[in-house]
Amino acid sequence: MQQLTLTRPDDWHLHLRDGAALKVVLPHTVRQFARAIIMPNLKPPVRSLADAAAYRDRILAAIPAGKQFEPLMTLYLTDNTSPEETIAAKASGFVKAVKYYPSGATTNSEFGVTDIRKCDRVFEAMQQVDLPLLLHGEVTDKDVDIFDREKVFIQRYLIPLKQRFPKLRVVLEHITTADAVEYVLNANNIGATITPQHLLFNRNRIFKGGINPHFYCLPILKRETHRQALVKAATSGNPKFFLGTDSAPHTRTSKESACGCAGCFSALHAIELYAEAFESVNALDKLEAFASFYGPDFYQLPRNTEQITLNKSTWKIPDEVPFTESGLVPLNAGQEMTWQMV
Ligand code: NCD
Ligand code: ZN
Repeated sequence: MQQLTLTRPDDWHLHLRDGAALKVVLPHTVRQFARAIIMPNLKPPVRSLADAAAYRDRILAAIPAGKQFEPLMTLYLTDNTSPEETIAAKASGFVKAVKYYPSGATTNSEFGVTDIRKCDRVFEAMQQVDLPLLLHGEVTDKDVDIFDREKVFIQRYLIPLKQRFPKLRVVLEHITTADAVEYVLNANNIGATITPQHLLFNRNRIFKGGINPHFYCLPILKRETHRQALVKAATSGNPKFFLGTDSAPHTRTSKESACGCAGCFSALHAIELYAEAFESVNALDKLEAFASFYGPDFYQLPRNTEQITLNKSTWKIPDEVPFTESGLVPLNAGQEMTWQMV
């Protein structure tokens, strides 16, 4: 196959940051995607409907002239989020979900929830108005091994949560394990996003020839059997699994540091990365639905109508693209890709 034409995809999990960083990264996403679910982990986070409205305006102002893009906003759940705030958020029409971060789990999560059971009144309201809950599904207990944090979260918190709120629509974000695939397959009212890095790489990549901080993200890459389970889920044609890049830009200096930040930047070449993952198992025919249909179906939004085209053509991922105080290193920088969006 030499050319691939797809309905324009959407990104159901994206970090755009704010200020100067927002202005630099947004055009990359706008080039490929029509809409994106915008993560609320700013400093300070997007906690209220007013915060979300103001952030949305800043995003709209940063869209390059003549381009179309719709930011789908989220609220950052804290111990103090009120049920009324989520009801008002749903009524606004532009807030599409509430994001749960366990306190301390990842970048800018210090405002996150200290005990998920404290939020039951909020979940009750969200279930009532049908506002989806997005989960960073990892426990943060220091006694749980970093590679087991997702699996333990499912057992300890997600299964009980779904028992308490069976109709609450949940997205288990950036799934990384066979355990998560298995759980999502067997539960109701649940979807899952899958990132390009978790489809393409296993945890060996972090340590290949030395430590590679640009492959460090959270949840951390897992062993090969898990990667294979994710590829199988993504290419299965099951509508529970859809595209969410988790593109999470950090400056080169904050990644290449004694205590480097978690996050991979993939907005530059996201659809090409997914195309390579799908092609590796001869499943390019399943890419369009994963990238462009199942996400809007889950969020009860119309599918996009315009199209994008990818050509079979070899190019090199740049070592760095311009960013803020220092450059931005794209996922798998310096390596060759065989698909290119025109
Ligand atoms: C994200 C970030 O940098 O904001 N980092 C990451 O490794 N994925 C936060 C997140 O989604 O966990
Ligand atoms: Zn994320």
